[in-house]
Formats: sequence, structure tokens, C-alpha cells
Amino acid sequence: MTQRTLVLLKPDTVSRGLVGKVLDRYEAKGLSIVAMELRRITAEMSDQHYAEHVERDFYPDLREFVTSGPLVAMVLEGDDAIEVVRGLNGATDGRKAAAGTIRGDLSLSNRENLVHGSDSPESAAREIGIWFPEL
Ligand code: RTP
Ligand code: MG
Repeated sequence: MTQRTLVLLKPDTVSRGLVGKVLDRYEAKGLSIVAMELRRITAEMSDQHYAEHVERDFYPDLREFVTSGPLVAMVLEGDDAIEVVRGLNGATDGRKAAAGTIRGDLSLSNRENLVHGSDSPESAAREIGIWFPEL
């Protein structure tokens, strides 16, 4: 089933110069770019995007990280795009993520883990509405 998913290349991807490398993983897999934009986000935008996490103990550090510099937001489309992107991204903690995944190959951190991908059709719809309301 063709799906759309919201992907973020977080500030560590941009600051480490890995945008091209990470984007290549998604494009090589066959996913299409529907929208893409480099932007810096406010704390309020972070709170909206991470609404499910704002009460968690790790959230202040996460918010500081995602607002620390520009990131690349995009909508990707393809067959089962939500699950496919989560598979390419790998487990949340880069130290534990499997080799061959984006995080497994390029991240050594539980927070600075390079990418975000929507985790369900409901999350994708909500997140695309936040980041790309025109779609
Ligand atoms: P994402 O939402 O970014 O695609 O990542 P995920 O589903 O694999 O992980 P999630 O549980 O939704 O966590 C969101 C982001 O919060 C940071 N995090 N820090 N204990 C910690 O310090 C901690 N746990 C999570 C990560 O940046 C994670 O991607
Ligand atoms: Mg998540």
C-alpha cells in the first residue's frame, strides 16, 4: 500500500555533513521525495512534534538537541513507506542499531541518532500536518 511518512534529518545529520549520504539510503531504496525543506525549529514546534514525549525525563535534552541547528524535514512516499523507513533507520539507540541501518552505521548515540521517521499511519498524518500543512 502506498504511504507517506514524515522524515527528519536531525541537526547532527546536517552538522556532520551526512545529508547526502542519508538521503541516498532512502532514494536508493526507491522512496520518492514529496516535499523537503531545510529549517530551524522553535521549542514550540519541538513540543508539538514530540507531544508524546514532552513529559519524559529525556525530553529537555532532546528539545535542546533538535532546536540546536538546522534540520531537513521531508515527506517520503512509497509502498509501506512508514515501516520501510523505520527499518532503514534502525533501532533508536545508535549503539545498539544493527549494522546496515542508518543509525547502526553512522550513529553512536541514543539521542543524536540522525533521523526521525513516523511510527504509524496516525503519527504520519499528524506529523505531516505539522510540518507540511499545505500537503
Ligand atoms: P524518532 O521518533 O526520532 O524516529 O525515534 P524513535 O521512534 O526510534 O524513538 P522515540 O522513542 O520516539 O524517541 C524520540 C527521540 O528521542 C531521543 N531519545 N533520547 N533516553 C534518551 O536519552 C532518549 N530516548 C530517546 C532520540 O533522539 C529519539 O530518536
Ligand atoms: Mg518516535
